Amino acid sequence: MKLTTATLLSIQLPFLVSAHYNPHLARDNIPEWIPGGPNDFRGPCPMMNTLANHGYLPRDGGNITKPNAVQALSSALNFNTSLAELMFEMAIIANPEPNATFFTLDQLNRHNVLEHDASMSRTDAFFGNNHIFNQSVFDATRVYWTGSTLTADMLANGKIARQIESKAFNPNYTFTATTEQFSLGEVAAPIIVFGDMQSGTVERELVEYFFAENERLPTELGWTKKAQAVTVEQVGGVSQMIAQAASLLTDGAAATKKRWVDLHAGAGF
Ligand code: HEM
Ligand SMILES: *[C@@H]1O[C@H](CO)[C@@H](O)[C@H](O)[C@H]1NC(C)=O
Ligand SMILES: *[C@@H]1O[C@H](CO)[C@@H](O)[C@H](O)[C@H]1NC(C)=O
Ligand SMILES: *[C@@H]1O[C@H](CO)[C@@H](O)[C@H](O)[C@H]1NC(C)=O
Ligand SMILES: *[C@@H]1O[C@H](CO)[C@@H](O)[C@H](O)[C@H]1NC(C)=O
Ligand SMILES: *[C@@H]1O[C@H](CO)[C@@H](O)[C@H](O)[C@H]1NC(C)=O
Repeated sequence: MKLTTATLLSIQLPFLVSAHYNPHLARDNIPEWIPGGPNDFRGPCPMMNTLANHGYLPRDGGNITKPNAVQALSSALNFNTSLAELMFEMAIIANPEPNATFFTLDQLNRHNVLEHDASMSRTDAFFGNNHIFNQSVFDATRVYWTGSTLTADMLANGKIARQIESKAFNPNYTFTATTEQFSLGEVAAPIIVFGDMQSGTVERELVEYFFAENERLPTELGWTKKAQAVTVEQVGGVSQMIAQAASLLTDGAAATKKRWVDLHAGAGF
């Protein structure tokens, strides 16, 4: 066969195209979404499951080392490295082995290690499976998501409602001050990743898609990761917003705390 420019082109074209076409990248340019199968580890965190479903974390949900976690959180969500490292360091206790260097997503299921009662989308360990998405629990939370744009108040109301439900009907309800700190971060998470941290709001559509549509990043709804890296301080700020919004008083939780101290001081005890 005589090699003409045309045949060269037709031979080369597929290679030129394939150099740009990665079969693991979906059309929205993020790694293909493949939900975990029966042999894959998944856990109670909708985001860690999501990152494994997209292949940012090992797809089998194992070997979550610090480098793997940092790489996933920064490339998928643009989390600042210090934030991602801190999150990994807080989570490594999930692996019961001393001096563990990795954890697996199912190790996050261990009750009252990181996993806790009164979750937004999972039932309490006392009632059933504490780590798979539970539609009736999620619906109970969503009763309080009363607008198409979720606010810190709506998210906080859902959180409180879940705690009242558990405190009333789960005789083994456990929720410590440490649990509260993690819980505030989890309730803040949708605002941090999918919403606007300044106003403390997020489109309900994005949050519902993420939780309930098999744990997937809502790129097809137009979401993209933040342009600016998310910092530890910002996460603290949004968690604090949720804490304020979780007060049942209308003049703010901080003011209340102050007055309580004043009352005690005034009463001399
Ligand atoms: C090292 C990283 C992370 C680890 C180890 C982790 C671990 C966990 C664990 C153990 C839970 C279960 C708590 C419960 O019982 O409800 C949880 C819940 C949650 N996580 Fe993560 N997480 C991580 C990162 C993230 C990120 C980046 C997001 C951002 C969206 C996120 C969003 C959530 C949400 C929304 C919940 C609450 C689920 C519910 O209440 O139903 N997590 N996470
Ligand atoms: C676990 O992840 C690390 C990177 O953090 C990698 O070097 C190692 O090969 C992985 N181990 C397995 C068994 O996949
Ligand atoms: C990450 O955030 C911290 C503040 O929390 C900042 O000091 C640091 O420079 C940031 N790192 C990068 C790589 O942007
Ligand atoms: C874990 O690390 C500590 C401190 O480095 C060390 O003293 C201890 O022997 C280690 N334990 C195991 C089981 O490797
Ligand atoms: C019950 O509560 C105890 C103490 O808080 C805790 O250790 C245990 O894991 C809980 N079990 C269930 C099923 O909730
Ligand atoms: C879902 O949650 C409800 C309410 O707590 C519970 O009755 C049901 O057993 C849960 N389903 C599973 C599969 O755990």
